[in-house]
Amino acid sequence: MPARAGSPGVIRFITCGSVDDGKSTLIGQLLALTGSLLEDQFSALRQDSARYGTQGSNLDLALALDGLLAEREQGITIDVAYRFFATATHKFIVADCPGHAQYTRNMATGASTADAAVVLVDARKGILPQTIRHSAIVQMFGVRHIVLAINKMDAVDYEQARFDQLSRDYAARVKDLGIAQFTAVPVCALNGANLLSRSDAMPWYQGPSLLDELVRVPAKATVADAPQLPVQLVLRPNQDFRGICGTLLGNSLHIGDTLLINADRARSVRVRTLTRAGHAVTSAIDGDALVLTVQEDADIARGDVLSHADAKVEKSDRFTARLLWMSESSAREGQSYWLKLATRTINARLEDISVQLNLETSQLQPFNAPESELVCNTICECTIRLDSAIVMQRFQQNDTLGAFVLIDRYSLATVAAGVVTQVNAPRNITRHPALVSSSERAQQKQQRARCYWFTGLSGAGKSTIATALDRHLTSAGQHCYVLDGDNVRHGLTKHLGFSESDRQENIRLVAETAKLMVDAGLVVIVSLISPFRADRDAARALFQTGEFIEIFVDTPLNVVEARDPKGLYAKARSGQLKGFTGIDAPYEAPLRPEVHLQTQSAGSDRELSALLADVLTATSGSSSVEE
Ligand code: ADX
Repeated sequence: MPARAGSPGVIRFITCGSVDDGKSTLIGQLLALTGSLLEDQFSALRQDSARYGTQGSNLDLALALDGLLAEREQGITIDVAYRFFATATHKFIVADCPGHAQYTRNMATGASTADAAVVLVDARKGILPQTIRHSAIVQMFGVRHIVLAINKMDAVDYEQARFDQLSRDYAARVKDLGIAQFTAVPVCALNGANLLSRSDAMPWYQGPSLLDELVRVPAKATVADAPQLPVQLVLRPNQDFRGICGTLLGNSLHIGDTLLINADRARSVRVRTLTRAGHAVTSAIDGDALVLTVQEDADIARGDVLSHADAKVEKSDRFTARLLWMSESSAREGQSYWLKLATRTINARLEDISVQLNLETSQLQPFNAPESELVCNTICECTIRLDSAIVMQRFQQNDTLGAFVLIDRYSLATVAAGVVTQVNAPRNITRHPALVSSSERAQQKQQRARCYWFTGLSGAGKSTIATALDRHLTSAGQHCYVLDGDNVRHGLTKHLGFSESDRQENIRLVAETAKLMVDAGLVVIVSLISPFRADRDAARALFQTGEFIEIFVDTPLNVVEARDPKGLYAKARSGQLKGFTGIDAPYEAPLRPEVHLQTQSAGSDRELSALLADVLTATSGSSSVEE
């Protein structure tokens, strides 16, 4: 999440550029010229320069930056390295970010806390796609002050014409990104020209030196809104104390102030005590890490937002976002992820990706769903739908409640970072309470409502066992229903195919239907390949503990292929059928299914009865649901 506004006199900036543009040399030179390298660092640098250096017998200042040995050996920087230096008037914190495309995520991290960005361009190479991508990222994350450092001017004979041309090129390429203002400075990082003061080598240049330009950077604007507190943690050391912890946004909060819970005017609390760094205080300001207690006994948990009635926060389950896709696995419309915004984590769906940024042309292009995919390092605009409405704000107004990341639900990797560009109207739907509970409905049928979820390869025997289970339970007087993949695809989900996102939606719709049926007191038997763990876990999450029983019908591929009841494996092998599970589409076996059926054949009646006995024995009585 973006940091709060910088302290006075401290300038945080990020340097970005492509590989070999000279970023590390530039920062090393700034450290050396401002006297920020200590004697022991100099001596280490002398040794390193002799061993790894690229500057002959001279010091290779880039080596002062490339902190890790592995980086030095490969000659690249592979993390965000924060460096500190100071002049008589200012302190600087610089984030040195790697230039390679695969490290764009590190750049996003650096950009989210920076007041300014130094975009480095090699005067010989000119503006590269990376330059545009980096500029788009710093702009997206709210860095308003961009300094274009045109480096290696010595290699173009300090020519003004080349500098002017590159400044013009850059202006033209970034205009569509919304970057209207930047300052271009011609520099030579290697010899320090125009870094601290104007160099005689370029008398034609009358503008500021790089550092002079950087100190003109206004600190990132403070959130000048009424107080808001995204709740990070609720401390309950004993029955009598409930401390609500979080970092305050906006100014200023006092004891006695009334705060709304999740912007709901019907739910509010009054501040009883405020504690900052272990000391009781009567008021708090933007950026303070607080523990507060409230007068009322209200239900408040991590992820909730407490805000003053005047705070301009909004609440919705749908918003428009600008998104930087940072994962090697690509995304399509319709896919679901965890979304983390401030302290809230919630299920989110990528809806309607409208445009994406082509980094070659720096133009926004239409995204042609369903064929198009969002690939690593693409920036797009899209709508995001959440499972329920949460408190948020546009990023331009609030860099904490307006910024988020998307997390893969299975690997838990951060796959995207984004900002809220527009909060859309919520759907305004609430739940209407029922007068009959689902347990009453189940009791009326003298059964325990459940969902038996069969998963496994096509032809594994899921449907055969599922229908046999249905027959068995119905004969025993239970009220059951089977939701079978092949059958529901004739009706409920007939609009869906077998792409990853279509399967995801197929499974979601069947799971929601099963959920309704369990609410109605039925025993539901689902038979779906459901090849992805995350989708099965999302289905499980709809149910109460013990209601969802995952049954893995584990028949080996060679067996199902030999069996091939519908002739589909043969078609898939011959290439007539694409994306067939087990052949050229993945199947992720359950890690901890409630029942693991290892079958070689599901043919004979005796075997089938044995399997059913397994399912029923393994699941009866293991439920923790109270009837
Ligand atoms: S799921 O992946 O979305 O869970 P589902 O269980 O509904 O799949 O449908 C699987 C059935 O569809 C298979 O038993 C098979 O008959 C048929 N089918 C058609 N194309 C495919 C495919 N590409 N991959 C898997 N099954 C397919």
